[in-house]
Order: sequence, then C-alpha cells, then structure tokens
Amino acid sequence: MVEDNLSPDSISRDLETRFVGQRVLYYPSLPSTMEVARREAQQEAAEGTVIIAGEQTLGRGRLKRVWLSPKGNISLSIILHPSLSYLPSLIMLASLAVAHSIEAVTGLKSQVKWPNDILINGRKVCGILIENDVQGNTVNCSIIGIGVNVNLRLADFPEIQPIATSLSDELGREVSRLSVIRCLLVEVERLYLTLSAGGSIYQEWRDNLVTLGKRVRVKTGETIYEGVAESVARDGSLLLRGLDGSLTKIVVGDVTPRD
Ligand code: BTN
Repeated sequence: MVEDNLSPDSISRDLETRFVGQRVLYYPSLPSTMEVARREAQQEAAEGTVIIAGEQTLGRGRLKRVWLSPKGNISLSIILHPSLSYLPSLIMLASLAVAHSIEAVTGLKSQVKWPNDILINGRKVCGILIENDVQGNTVNCSIIGIGVNVNLRLADFPEIQPIATSLSDELGREVSRLSVIRCLLVEVERLYLTLSAGGSIYQEWRDNLVTLGKRVRVKTGETIYEGVAESVARDGSLLLRGLDGSLTKIVVGDVTPRD
C-alpha cells in the first residue's frame, strides 16, 4: 500500500509554485469539489486555491453526467482568475498538465481525446470539467475540475470497465496520489504562466490529440455529425470534414470513433 497522505500540508509543503496549491482544502468526503470551489471563489478565495476530496458522492462530469469518484482516485478543483482570452486554452492547459504529470510519476504515456478525456491505451483515465463564471467581459473565476482514476480496480466497477482504466490497473501496482497531485499543480501553474506570458500551448495540445485524422461520429445536443476529425481551431473547437466535403466547427460535443 502506497503511503498517501493528502493533508494540505503534505501537498503544499515545499511545492514549487507561486500560487497554485499554496492554499489547499481537503475533505475526506464531499458531494463534489466543484460546489465547494464555487463557494470559495464567491468568498474571494486566493487564486490557485485547490479543493480536494478523498471521495465524492455526487461527482459530476460534462453534460450533466455522473462521475464516479471512489476512494483511491484523485478528485480536485482549482480556482483560477484568467483573463477572458485565456478561457479557450484552459482545457488545453488542464489536459497537458494531467498528461505530463501522469508520465512524470508513472512513465505511462497518455493521449488526449477531444475535448477533455485523457486516455491510456484507448481507455479513459481522467476527465476534466471546466466551469467559468463570466459577467460581460469579466471572468469572476474559472474552476478546473480534474478526476483521475489512480488506485481504482476496474474489476470492481463493471459498469465502466470496458471504457475506463486506472493508473494502478495499467501498472499492476498502486500509485502515490500525493506525487501525482503535487506534479499536477506544478504543471498547471507552469502552463498558466506560459499563457500569461503570451506563449501558446495549442500546438502541443493538438499534437497530443488522438482524435485527429480519425473517422468519427460527433453528438452535439440532439445533432449527430459524421466525418473525419480534420483539425482543431485555436479556440479549442473541433473541425469536422463531413462525408459531403463540408467543414463543421464543433464547440461542444462527444466524439465516438467509427473505424
Ligand atoms: C468528464 O469526463 O465528464 C469530466 C469529469 C470531471 C470530474 C471531476 S472530479 C473533480 C471535480 N468534481 C466533480 O464533481 N467533477 C470534477
């Protein structure tokens, strides 16, 4: 059993960041870290505040889906105050930060499935949910929610077993959540500062997308598109080449491979 103390002190101590993870709130069990993060943000929490739950009882995913968050996984939300122009880059930032930290801690290579899934060997290991509170041109806050299947035995969760994986199932041993979280927070800040300094992370995100060049079906609301995922725009949307040659820009949707 890996030593895995997620106390605020063990996460923040000597963490090489200026603000991300310098304030951590840990709860053994929560309905959802997104709710606590929203409340904290409304009460002027410092930028970079992180809310971590040992488990979530009402974890939520994109498109109002349920997100399974049992003990042994990582469930956290990070509060940021980006400018409006960075909002489309936050999903790129979060995806790359997760992929980098998984590789740094475990050596496992992961890929990004548009728009927000991190896959290992074709199965989902992490989901990202970003909620922005915007009024006019002002971003009150952005909350990046990240759920990583770390020490999850998929055999115990047959309902997601065909599509999901965990770091421990991939490696055949448990993984330190503390190491993954600390690395993740450093990476989030590094990429955020890159953006703030006018740098771009679009190219690297694009290069990590497993979706591009594939024949896919995309469901967006009640509409279903079929075609080839040709590219992604700098605002993060997917450019789909339809079977009739038309090009559709998809901002929100779910992608299923067709091959
Ligand atoms: C998805 O793949 O649909 C996104 C899943 C996001 C899950 C994380 S876990 C931490 C945070 N709290 C939540 O309730 N959801 C996000």
